[in-house]
Amino acid sequence: MTDKLIIFDTTLRDGEQSPGASMTRDEKLRIARQLERLKVDVIEAGFAASSNGDFEAVQAIANAIKDATICSLSRANDRDISRAAEALKGANSARIHTFIATSPLHMEKKLRMSPEQVLEQAKQSVRFARNLVGDIEFSPEDGYRSEMDFLCRVIEAVIAEGATTINVPDTVGYAIPELYGNFIKTLRERIPNSDKAIWSVHCHNDLGMAVANSLAGVMIGGARQVECTINGLGERAGNCSLEEVVMAIKTRKDYFNLDLNIDTKQIVATSRMVSQTTGFVVQPNKAVVGANAFAHASGIHQDGVLKARDTYEIMRAEDVGWSANKIVLGKLSGRNAFKQRLEDLGVHMESEADINTAFAKFKELADRKSEIFDEDILALVSEESVAHASEQFTFVSLSQHSETGERPHASVVFTVAGKEVKGESDGNGPVDASLKAIESHVKSGAEMVLYSVNAISGSTESQGEVTVRLQNSGRVVNGVGSDPDIVVASAKAYLSALNKLQSKSDRVAAQG
Ligand code: KIV
Ligand code: ZN
Repeated sequence: MTDKLIIFDTTLRDGEQSPGASMTRDEKLRIARQLERLKVDVIEAGFAASSNGDFEAVQAIANAIKDATICSLSRANDRDISRAAEALKGANSARIHTFIATSPLHMEKKLRMSPEQVLEQAKQSVRFARNLVGDIEFSPEDGYRSEMDFLCRVIEAVIAEGATTINVPDTVGYAIPELYGNFIKTLRERIPNSDKAIWSVHCHNDLGMAVANSLAGVMIGGARQVECTINGLGERAGNCSLEEVVMAIKTRKDYFNLDLNIDTKQIVATSRMVSQTTGFVVQPNKAVVGANAFAHASGIHQDGVLKARDTYEIMRAEDVGWSANKIVLGKLSGRNAFKQRLEDLGVHMESEADINTAFAKFKELADRKSEIFDEDILALVSEESVAHASEQFTFVSLSQHSETGERPHASVVFTVAGKEVKGESDGNGPVDASLKAIESHVKSGAEMVLYSVNAISGSTESQGEVTVRLQNSGRVVNGVGSDPDIVVASAKAYLSALNKLQSKSDRVAAQG
């Protein structure tokens, strides 16, 4: 007898809360389609009441995705819950996830509410939500640092009001596997109606134990839902990583004895899409999805793997989708082949005109680069959708001169609200000169907090993918740009970050 483990993906909600990881509606929709191909059970699409943009993203995902349950986060108040229900109207299967903090610290310092008030508000919210949607998840925020007796009262009460899933967050990543597992076990044993709900784990990675804690919550505590994100994306050190938890359960089925819906062959494609969209690069030695995860460098290991792969490999690279790095299109590929490849990659363009624009960009790239990989196509459409979302600044052309012993100089032509302008500057290197050339015109005053370059498909012939993280007036944004010329990729990334800084954010913090 095996039990099913529900995979609840919160990349588009908790993952997106990571500073700089915010995504446009179209980017979120593209990732949601990929999550559907990955066959996650629940997609937490956003926090509908936090901003109009998030409302629209949840709504678009609820209308488009048919195979997964679509969930919106909501604080424990009627307005948030009504907004979530409204956004979820088009979903085949909808869930409202409502939360309120229950730890002494959060109740006293953040909410300024007494425990009795929190208890009443939790009950009232679940009652209200239950009248709108049948599937209700309740989270006691900072649950792991809450007092056991009080937490038992709150959870028993919300189950009685109709909560169908109880999620126990380790909001600050403080838990230790054995303790967290036992914490959930005790809750389930002490709460009389605990069998009326599915139990869920939600762990943050501040001490690097989010995956271990989640698995302990499953094995010791009996949880049957894991909340996780692609690449472990999320605030601070991130959330429990979906790919790690899934591959642990699959690889050690002998121990966990749990069934999953996930199509593991989609893992690498999903990881790449999230990384390219958010600009959060995956570290090479990251388990399962890092570039080195299946690379055997030492002679002894290589020899062993060639003789019998299970000498050093516990998973097969192709089972998580690593075979995908092959040439897919080239200069002679036509529009139909391009369109088909977009569909295979889960990219849906709104109109034929959008496909034509993307195809023209593809042809431009194919003229400069003979082999076009899936990653190139995804990078190209990422850029397109960012450009669509906010076209304040767009790249036109760049020229730069650098020679040993001379200070590099660059001039960059770009458009500002449709009007062409040119900035010039010198700098420490060609990239520095190019970004200073843009800044000499824009005068954003933003501080650069991260600059990184990555070869999209591994060789010097590949496109460079640049991430630029800018900070201004308390906002942090990531811009991503790609091009075979890394100086051009850098200028594009800088302009993309400036575009994001320009777009107003009226977002409410989920844990504020
Ligand atoms: O970490 C957390 O507590 C959360 C809740 C909103 C579920 O993300
Ligand atoms: Zn969280």
